[in-house]
Amino acid sequence: MTGPCAAIEATNLRVVRGDKTILRGVSLRALQGEVVGVLGPSGAGKSTFFGALVGEVPVTDGEVRVFDKVVTRAELWERARIGVSYMPQTPSVLWDLSVRENLLVYHQIVHGRAASGADAAVEKLATRVALADRMSVCAGGLSGGERRRLELARALTRAPKVLVCDEPFAGVDPQQASRLADLLRLLADEEGVCVLLSDHHVAEALRICTRAVLLLDGQVAMEGRPEEFEKHPLVIGRYLPPSTYLPTPTAAHVPEIDRPG
Ligand SMILES: Nc1ncnc2c1ncn2[C@@H]1O[C@H](COP(=O)(O)OP(=O)(O)OP(=O)(O)O)[C@@H](O)[C@H]1O
Ligand SMILES: [Mg+2]
Repeated sequence: MTGPCAAIEATNLRVVRGDKTILRGVSLRALQGEVVGVLGPSGAGKSTFFGALVGEVPVTDGEVRVFDKVVTRAELWERARIGVSYMPQTPSVLWDLSVRENLLVYHQIVHGRAASGADAAVEKLATRVALADRMSVCAGGLSGGERRRLELARALTRAPKVLVCDEPFAGVDPQQASRLADLLRLLADEEGVCVLLSDHHVAEALRICTRAVLLLDGQVAMEGRPEEFEKHPLVIGRYLPPSTYLPTPTAAHVPEIDRPG
């Protein structure tokens, strides 16, 4: 393979569970500073693919490399150590701890109990995801969107080189989703993070993607720039209805809410 070393690279990944073949030879390479969308209908295999990349899902065949190091059979923590961070699709906060405590726990796991500056570091992380005013709230008492933002903050604890985000905008309101998307793009642009992103908020995902891949039935069906992706017949036919893209308002006038009394 020519060109710069990929931050993460999957070659011919196959995942078989029982008599079901979930991934049928998926290949993808992504560079530092890229945001790559892995998009497609429910059941296409996106989460399985991400799980295989980060070490959560055992691979039947094929290879995963991170900065040219083969990690196909490496544990999740071994991949974390070389810079892979993961925001899973399923909820993963510590429900009975506050936002601050959730972030502190991960800070201690990553940097050790004796590390100084933990309070300032978690405050900074919470500010990045607009949760600084929710630090004392129990994670079990957060809204769905707030919980998702906490999970993203946690994934950023170790300043990842490769950030795998499985539906980061799920349950997040449109304005916060847009801010989270901006944050992911910023991580790629300013810190060179390689972001892999899956989400059914396709317009938001494509807005920040360098490239997008359509996954269908466990295979890469097409790959292209966002503007190619959204027009591709396979994408329109198998995933998106053409009406998904609403015109963006230009001269937006946002009225005040009428408040009773
Ligand atoms: N451990 C497993 N054993 C058997 N089948 C599985 C297993 N895990 C996932 N599957 C199946 O593999 C397929 C892909 O699942 P996956 O969760 O990867 O899809 P997805 O593209 O992430 O979907 P969504 O958009 O709904 O999150 C589904 O049909 C699912 O039922
Ligand atoms: Mg999924």
